[in-house]
Amino acid sequence: MPKDFLSVADWSPEELSRILDRARELKELLGKGERPQTLQGRTLAMYFEHPSLRTHVTFEAGMAQLGGHAVFLTSEHIGIGTRESAGDVAQALSRWVDVVVARTRSHALVEELARVATVPVVNALTDLLHPCQAMADLMTVAERKPLSAARIAYVGDGNNVAHSLMLACASLGVELRLATPASHRPAQRVRRRAESLASASGSRIWLGDDPIEAVSGVDFVYTDVWTSMGQEAEAGARKALFRPYQVNDELLAHAPDALVMHDLPAHRGEEITAEVLDGPRSIVFDQAENRLHAQKAVLERLLLPPAKA
Ligand code: NVA
Repeated sequence: MPKDFLSVADWSPEELSRILDRARELKELLGKGERPQTLQGRTLAMYFEHPSLRTHVTFEAGMAQLGGHAVFLTSEHIGIGTRESAGDVAQALSRWVDVVVARTRSHALVEELARVATVPVVNALTDLLHPCQAMADLMTVAERKPLSAARIAYVGDGNNVAHSLMLACASLGVELRLATPASHRPAQRVRRRAESLASASGSRIWLGDDPIEAVSGVDFVYTDVWTSMGQEAEAGARKALFRPYQVNDELLAHAPDALVMHDLPAHRGEEITAEVLDGPRSIVFDQAENRLHAQKAVLERLLLPPAKA
């Protein structure tokens, strides 16, 4: 079992399924008002270089529900790279806390933190990946359809969210159809990794540039912002480029039974219309809710011996 949770691709399909099973169990327990104190006395340090609502609150609330405690840190607090090196921060945190969650601008930094830290490090979004989101997404899909039968279309930017979704689908045997402009395909190294995972799981991963072709007949249509955090300078050009990829009623007419997914925050009128995001097919707040349960299961998996997790 890996020490860290940096990418879903580092974990076997069996391990990922076990985490999803436990997430479902934790959700059921919380629904009955039960909060198993499995992480009593444990401390989580959360380090954020970008803003966060869902990730921050779900890790902090999740840790509290499991009997543990979370400490919130930002780059202004600790100044990795200006006040102190990543390695020194990782070594110091490892002497005090049981697990570190990090949202870093560059994926290389979360890898460096994980390499030096002796405690587990969880990727809470980088420019390359967003594995916690992908876990919540597949948990949400599995609540409606067996993963082996689910067909998901992702429409828009081949970004961090698309990357982790692709790796998770490839690993767990879910069919995924991605439509992006040719210039914004998922990164080649992620595609290659997904291909090799898909050949083991039997998952079908389709990549193209036509949103209609991607969504036709699928069960779930997923989109994300066109401008991710750190890309703000490109926002104008991106709006023009991605315009044909908007998830709206016209596109969804090609997927009459599909439910609509978005990791949030959303920009109504850009990647998705308000009618669709706020409409009856939208399951975006189920995804947001499931961040809590999926991440609690990840924390338990990293911190408890397998028999208890
Ligand atoms: N792709 C988006 C996801 C936000 C949760 C970003 O990186 O800003």
